[in-house]
Order: sequence, then structure tokens, then C-alpha cells
Amino acid sequence: MPVGLLMKEHRLIEKTIDVWKKELENIAASGKTNVCLLELAIDFMKTYADRCHHGKEEDILFRELKKKNLSSQLKKILAELIREHKIARETVKSLIEAKSKYSCGEKGSLDEIASSIKFIIEVYPSHIEKEDKHFFLPCMEYFDGREQEKMLEEFAQFDRTLIHEKYKLMLEGMKIMQG
Ligand SMILES: [Fe+2]
Ligand SMILES: [Fe+2]
Repeated sequence: MPVGLLMKEHRLIEKTIDVWKKELENIAASGKTNVCLLELAIDFMKTYADRCHHGKEEDILFRELKKKNLSSQLKKILAELIREHKIARETVKSLIEAKSKYSCGEKGSLDEIASSIKFIIEVYPSHIEKEDKHFFLPCMEYFDGREQEKMLEEFAQFDRTLIHEKYKLMLEGMKIMQG
């Protein structure tokens, strides 16, 4: 079942939420943040949680669901999920900006980092719970076996292209840094 793969990805995202929680505690205790760890955790949120995971949800699952005559309850949840993806994306963007300010020694940037982390810790677990417990399984009832197979194949194709996309973007970034 295609949503089985998405649920498996949720388990990995949850483990990263634990990393964010611990970093928030470290910030409170030490008054500073670990920039190297922050960079890794941001990359995880950008590449894995947002591009790879939300990408498959939005570009494949949600796209196919929009073609179906969903119940009003599922339609309502779908709209909420899309909105939460947008919020998660914006939060990571704010976090990246705050991290750059912190690296330049800008005052107040640590508070901005902490509030973005708090927001991530709040938004992701409830979003995941909503999908796992109230959305994915009832949604699958709208697809027959063949449609689910096709979706799984599209998920695999989506994942195959990601690493190439990531490193092409990284190259672009390196060129921009060199001017
Ligand atoms: Fe989602
Ligand atoms: Fe998800």
C-alpha cells in the first residue's frame, strides 16, 4: 500500500523531532546553538521531510486524491494538510535565515532559532498523527489495487530522481558562492 511507505518515512521524521527537542534544551541550557548540527537538521527537513516526503504526498498522493470524489471530512483534512506543509516550509525558511544571522553574530537571532524549532516540534508530530490516524487509510479506499500499484511505482520514480536534483542544486549553490 503506498501510504505504508509514507508512514515509514514518518517514523524517521519523528526521530529527527527528538533531535530538535534536544537542541532546544541545549540552547536553553547553554545560550548558544550548534551550527553544524543545525545545518544537518535543516538539510534533513528541507531534503527529506519537505522535498522527499511532502513532495510524494503533494505531487502524487494529493494530486490523485483531488481527482476523486472525497468525503467532505477528508476534503477538509486535505486542505489542512496542504496548509501545514506550507507552514512547515516557511518555518524552515525562517530557521535558515535566523541561522545565517546567528553565524554573523546578530543579536536576537538565537531567540528566532529557538522559536522556529519550537514551531517545528509543535507542527510536525500533530501533522503526522493526523495523516497516520485520520487520513491515509480512509483515503486508500478510493483507489483500487492497480491504482495503488501505479502510485507506488510513481513514488519510487520520484525518489530515484531526488539525489540527482539535490546535487545539481548544490552545484548551483557552490557556483553562486564563488561569484
Ligand atoms: Fe504531510
Ligand atoms: Fe506525511
